Amino acid sequence: MDERRQGTRFSSDAEGAGARGTAVNPTDERIVHFDTSPGYDVHVAPGLLSSCGAILSDTLGRCMMVVVSDDTVAGLYLPAVHASLEDAGFDVIDYVFPHGERNKGLDTLAGLLEFLATHRVSRSDCIVALGGGVVGDLAGFAAAVYLRGIRFVQVPTTLLAAVDASIGGKTGVDLSAGKNMAGAFHQPSAVICDTDTFDTLPPELVSEGAAEVLKYGVLRDPDLFDRLPHVMHADRVDVVARCVEHKRHYVEPDEQDHGARRFLNLGHTVGHAIELCSGYSLYHGEAVAMGMACVARSCERAGEARPGTSERIETTCMALSLPTRSPYDAAELFAAAASDKKREGDEITIVGIRDIGQCFLRTMPFAGLEDFLVRGLGE
Ligand code: GLY
Repeated sequence: MDERRQGTRFSSDAEGAGARGTAVNPTDERIVHFDTSPGYDVHVAPGLLSSCGAILSDTLGRCMMVVVSDDTVAGLYLPAVHASLEDAGFDVIDYVFPHGERNKGLDTLAGLLEFLATHRVSRSDCIVALGGGVVGDLAGFAAAVYLRGIRFVQVPTTLLAAVDASIGGKTGVDLSAGKNMAGAFHQPSAVICDTDTFDTLPPELVSEGAAEVLKYGVLRDPDLFDRLPHVMHADRVDVVARCVEHKRHYVEPDEQDHGARRFLNLGHTVGHAIELCSGYSLYHGEAVAMGMACVARSCERAGEARPGTSERIETTCMALSLPTRSPYDAAELFAAAASDKKREGDEITIVGIRDIGQCFLRTMPFAGLEDFLVRGLGE
């Protein structure tokens, strides 16, 4: 898992790579406002890293900025972000930790909190999370608990973080019992997504993010679904901004994940079980794709989904280089799901599929999940 890092390979999108660092053409920028507590803007455009300081000086006023990143992303993008913030008049300090999910734990969190205290970071200062989901989750959680909460800004550099992890205010770290077992809801003060940073993603990380894009298509955007995978290359800014708007649709009415936000778990109940069975050797996006395909087959075989829906989802997954078949059987996945933190007592809520663009929530006895899985995994 650790070897699959941002910056290890480069895409063939020479045009996008060449554009990095150029001035932002305002007509290319999309801004999506979240009406949450607090509210914030998500900025999406190519070349935005060099405008971070200007964007944030409007939003945050004068303060110290602590840029938190991992060693992979820092090597690629920290100098540009640091310089942009300094140029805008902020005092800037950096905190870099080793990349990888294994470092999203309490030890790294403690190190960051001690660093903030040592540098006398105050309640009016701000953390900037520069990186993928690991950086955003960890830095966001540090911001949630340091001095009982300071502001933070998300600067996602992966597709997955841009369309999902960096928006909506979920922060946290992993415990030995499981991923994201300690966390807090803490909304960012701004999200700045420079789509040029995707140029340095290895193809596996592009596919991983594409699984979440596909999820929004299945949930509520048949037009986006129909234009996959081509649209991923043709118009990144539009794809990201659309996905951010879809996430906003579920997050604004349900910041704390008790109602509509649970639709965002499409494919994730089964996906988390697959990840757990694999010892986290599979990508989250790969597991979510297998989970969505399993849900679609199960719903179709139960007569709840329009015939052909599962085939459409599987075909699109394959076009996005995503797998559709779980290597684990129903009994293995059922046992793993039993330890899923989203289980509520003796019941579980799954997101079912009726058609592309039409999904439903179903709460059922936990024991019923095994039959659901058997239907979804059978040939
Ligand atoms: N990633 C799902 C959520 O933010 O609720």
